Amino acid sequence: MASYMRLGSIPRKRHIAHRREGGYRGEGIYYEEVVTTAGFGRAYSICYHLRPPTRVRKVEAAGTVNIETASEPVLRHHHVKTKDLKPAGNVITGRVPLFVNDDVIMSRCRPAQAQTELYRNGAADEVIFVHQGKGILHSMFGLLPFKPFDYIVIPHCTTYRVEFESGVQPDLLVFEARGNIVVPARYLNPDGQIRLGAPYSERDFHGPREIATVDREQDTTILIKDESRLTRYTLADHPFDVVGWDGMVYPFTFNADDFEPITGTVHQPPPIHQTFDAPGFVICTFAPRMLDTHPDAIKVPYAHSNVQADEVLYYVRGHFGSRRGVEESSLTLHPRGIPHGPHPGTIVNSRSMTRTDELAVMMDTIKPLALTRQALEMDDPQYPYSWLE
Ligand SMILES: [Fe+2]
Repeated sequence: MASYMRLGSIPRKRHIAHRREGGYRGEGIYYEEVVTTAGFGRAYSICYHLRPPTRVRKVEAAGTVNIETASEPVLRHHHVKTKDLKPAGNVITGRVPLFVNDDVIMSRCRPAQAQTELYRNGAADEVIFVHQGKGILHSMFGLLPFKPFDYIVIPHCTTYRVEFESGVQPDLLVFEARGNIVVPARYLNPDGQIRLGAPYSERDFHGPREIATVDREQDTTILIKDESRLTRYTLADHPFDVVGWDGMVYPFTFNADDFEPITGTVHQPPPIHQTFDAPGFVICTFAPRMLDTHPDAIKVPYAHSNVQADEVLYYVRGHFGSRRGVEESSLTLHPRGIPHGPHPGTIVNSRSMTRTDELAVMMDTIKPLALTRQALEMDDPQYPYSWLE
């Protein structure tokens, strides 16, 4: 969860009338909507609408999102190359799912069209990692600008529209998390503040910059996803009619280049790269950093068996010191049950290096991941043998 924030006009206390002249049906108030997480037990925000947010005119079935998982007869490493992924659909419909389990869906997305219809994920927090592209996420919380290498964290039930600046093909990595995306508990002190020494601070998180109240009493559709089901709601007015809000639930950005890497005299384990926590998985940022300084340090990771974890790395930018053959937009999946490690030659090649310019995003899941049909189509079947030479 993000820290407490307030924007726009709110009354002095919760749950009292926020008065205005006239207003909807002359009732003289703004209409409160409490947006909660974990029932009413965890973080929440309170928003004030021009009109009640419940005025639904039509509910229609809008199909299903079918994820085709591939059947895999063997346990093996994968290298999925997405560099040549063709732009398709929009920021919602253009998502190509690659790795899935009960807790998370990881997709790549190169939208070809603008998102014209509002969208809301009713069953998942979403994280959109912006590999390329710049723009504004519009929601009832206001305008949230984003730029390359931002993680855009969008809580469950945030109705939104993403608007990209023209000129650059947007390129995205998308996580849909069944649970809530949070700052790891070990980064927080007992007072709820991010500890000194954590790889980021509150200043690195950016919420909506300004309120952008849409006062439009005309039918507006929202595509709502809950699990695989899609429903189209027609509201009697525009849902971004919020004049103010406060709380700890809102979309925000964190830029991967603001991640302060933790380094040592010898290799530090992957949890030091952890950026977000979610039930069943973590998201980590491998940011540019100094390499280990011990005179005998081995500067690439040791071979490791990820017992009880599947590990996906998405290669974003720079030279990847421990891997050969990976390129920008490659994804590797190193599953539980078998070891993986640096490629031959990379230990020696790294000896004279003092820093790495690599930027990569990692997802470690507790439950095994299934590959989708699309992931298998872009997979290099020779990758499991790439440690031989
Ligand atoms: Fe690994």
